[in-house]
Amino acid sequence: MKLAVPKEIWPGEKRVAATAETVKKLIGLGFEVAIQAGAGQNAAIPDEKFAEAGATIAKTAKATVKDADVILKVRPPVMDGKTSELADYKKGAAVIALLDPYDRADLIAQMAEAGVSGFAMELVPRISRAQAMDVLSSQSNLAGYRAVIDAAYEFGRIYPMMMTAAGTLAPARVVVVGAGVAGLQAIATAKRLGAVVSAFDVRPAVKEQVQSLGGTFIEVDDDEAAAAETSGGYAKEMSDAYKEKQATKLKEVLAKTDIVITTALIPGRPAPQIVTADMVAGMKAGSVIIDLAAERGGNVAGAKVGETVETANGVKIIGPANITSSVATDATAMYAKNLLNFITLSVDKEKGTLAFNREDQIIAETMLTQDGKIVHPKFGGEEVANG
Ligand code: NAI
Repeated sequence: MKLAVPKEIWPGEKRVAATAETVKKLIGLGFEVAIQAGAGQNAAIPDEKFAEAGATIAKTAKATVKDADVILKVRPPVMDGKTSELADYKKGAAVIALLDPYDRADLIAQMAEAGVSGFAMELVPRISRAQAMDVLSSQSNLAGYRAVIDAAYEFGRIYPMMMTAAGTLAPARVVVVGAGVAGLQAIATAKRLGAVVSAFDVRPAVKEQVQSLGGTFIEVDDDEAAAAETSGGYAKEMSDAYKEKQATKLKEVLAKTDIVITTALIPGRPAPQIVTADMVAGMKAGSVIIDLAAERGGNVAGAKVGETVETANGVKIIGPANITSSVATDATAMYAKNLLNFITLSVDKEKGTLAFNREDQIIAETMLTQDGKIVHPKFGGEEVANG
């Protein structure tokens, strides 16, 4: 069994799909591991570390993936006319990565055509057995932390209250919109830095979690909130009536807020726009907004991916692009571990064989293509996965 980890060529991507630690474990499972030279460079993992762990270092991407049964990646294979990463993979190879399935029907079709088995790590189900493979959680957690740090950098004031001979500084007021994995970490981080934190989410289950971190939960009084959570733990899209109530409440709160961090996502749909231009216009000069949903359409009016936009009333709106790459070493450590746990599921260590069992919910829900066909029913597959 050969497993390959090419260098990521996606613009701005600094993470890599393996660490020296996971390489050792992969070899223990019976894999021969090939890593492309320089693959870990931007995540502070020199080639020597991979080599010491037992990997072969291959000079080119082509040589790395040659004959590989498994290709571990962070980003989807690049298919842009000039580069075709898929073209180098052998037929039947398993490609395990963040494949952005809801937005990449083109890639799903290309993977079927190339005869590879594509596994989208975003689709790992939220069941306890799969927690150690949950890349959305591991990466969002770091994104939430980093958003607070990035906001601090742009903010002309400090987070904590300070009482000094030169006067008293009031603590910063932080509002987190969307208190899922990223949001809860943002609350905890901002709180540790001394801010006064409140948070808002459509799922009422979140209230206690926010409070246990020392935050205040912003309530929107509405019956719809009771049914806002899917069985998978994600949020549903809310009605217009709910959105109106939410808007009135938020506008009032944001006028007194210094830093806003938004994280609200709905799987398979564009992010809901929650902070409107009108709300931003009502905020104080010097306030900072970090829209972690910017890459998925944005929660904040006027947010631009990869840019800091300053409004006429002096509010900075930041739309981070690939924020987890700014903590690439830790993000890699967690992502690589998630992948290791995922592949372990399909390896028979005794026999040294690899088989993906579609009777297993984790495999059924992540596998997009196999044997030249799209197999996932949500993405155009005809066969019904998992029975
Ligand atoms: P997410 O990244 O899809 O969304 C972020 C947050 O935005 C969510 O809390 C969501 O409710 C909220 N949101 C969506 N629309 C909104 C709106 N219009 N206004 C305000 N907030 C809105 O969600 P994430 O962070 O991936 O996880 C959501 C929940 O899933 C977690 O809090 C947890 O309860 C559960 N979970 C369960 C796991 C497991 O059992 N293995 C693992 C990870 C998370």
